Amino acid sequence: MSATLDPIQEMNKDHKMVRDILLKLLEAVEKKDAETALEMLLELDKLGGPHFRAEEETMYPILKKFFGEEYYNRLLEEHDRVIRAGRKIAQILGKGYMTDEEAEEITKMIRNDILPHPVTCEGLGIFMERLTEDELRRIAESIDKARREGVPLLQWAQEIRERKV
Ligand SMILES: [Fe+2]
Repeated sequence: MSATLDPIQEMNKDHKMVRDILLKLLEAVEKKDAETALEMLLELDKLGGPHFRAEEETMYPILKKFFGEEYYNRLLEEHDRVIRAGRKIAQILGKGYMTDEEAEEITKMIRNDILPHPVTCEGLGIFMERLTEDELRRIAESIDKARREGVPLLQWAQEIRERKV
């Protein structure tokens, strides 16, 4: 089944879903609707876990041959920022309401720490197009495996990811 999965397309679909969820999340925060905001955050958690996992386990290491160690590290730092922001937002929304200051803080975290990921990562797609069939197949298999295991982002960051933040 994984042989037929196109990793570039799959990542692109994920990023568009993330974009839509983030926009809904921003809208909910603007209305200070903590319940909807938390629902959206949980969607991100569910989608982001397997996505980041496949990126870190295969896609980024494979792409490193194009952009080298330093930029590879920057990509991991970008994931760190998303994880930290996700945790902080979950903490705020978990109590069932948000103050004006918290709503502003969440909006800033979404815009500065989370939204940049789909922007950066979609750009990587044009480099994925230059990978070999074998490399693409390895990424496809890793996406498939991570999705089947389905560990949400914050749980993955806590329990499975070697890099701790
Ligand atoms: Fe991505």
